[in-house]
Amino acid sequence: MQISKTPKHSQTIMTEVVFPNDTNPMGMLQGGRMVQWMDIASAVCAQNHAERICVTASIDVVKFKAAAKVGDIITIKAKITRSFNSSMEIFVQAWAKKVISQKAYLINEAFFTFVALDENAVPTVVPKVRPTTDEEKREYTKADERKMARILNK
Ligand SMILES: CC(C)(COP(=O)(O)OP(=O)(O)OC[C@H]1O[C@@H](n2cnc3c(N)ncnc32)[C@H](O)[C@@H]1OP(=O)(O)O)[C@@H](O)C(=O)NCCC(=O)NCCS
Repeated sequence: MQISKTPKHSQTIMTEVVFPNDTNPMGMLQGGRMVQWMDIASAVCAQNHAERICVTASIDVVKFKAAAKVGDIITIKAKITRSFNSSMEIFVQAWAKKVISQKAYLINEAFFTFVALDENAVPTVVPKVRPTTDEEKREYTKADERKMARILNK
């Protein structure tokens, strides 16, 4: 296992299409389905960083910024901001794209925290994050404050 990894190493892009079974009676994508897809994308990201099975420990404020409709193409991007001891913060964003116009817009974003487990389901140490871009460095610093807030609210 590497001592540190860049966010790019584990960045995960997932694509879905909204089907009628994913929607409410008005044809709008259900919030729960959206969060499920975001959870899967961020779990893949965390597991590729940790090289361990990871569980969702918390989901911070989930912002439903706009609705997606039946037929829209959903793109979900999950990127690690920082790891601590056994936990990792993953920033997830989702966009909806209209097939005909090809217009894409941000519909959702949230911070997920995952914890890596060993063979006995005990939290275990994960590689550090090595930010490279200015934005990655900014989010790396801010992640520390967000973790503190989570601990206070636990
Ligand atoms: C998440 C879980 C493994 C933490 O176990 P725990 O016994 O509280 O472990 P610890 O107190 O040693 O904390 C381990 C890490 O988790 C973090 N953590 C624990 N609860 C947290 C929470 N609610 N939010 C964010 N981070 C949390 C701690 O800060 C610590 O991070 P660090 O090692 O990087 O400093 C445990 O609560 C659990 O298994 N929860 C259920 C997970 C689940 O079923 N998810 C859905 C299915 S994937």
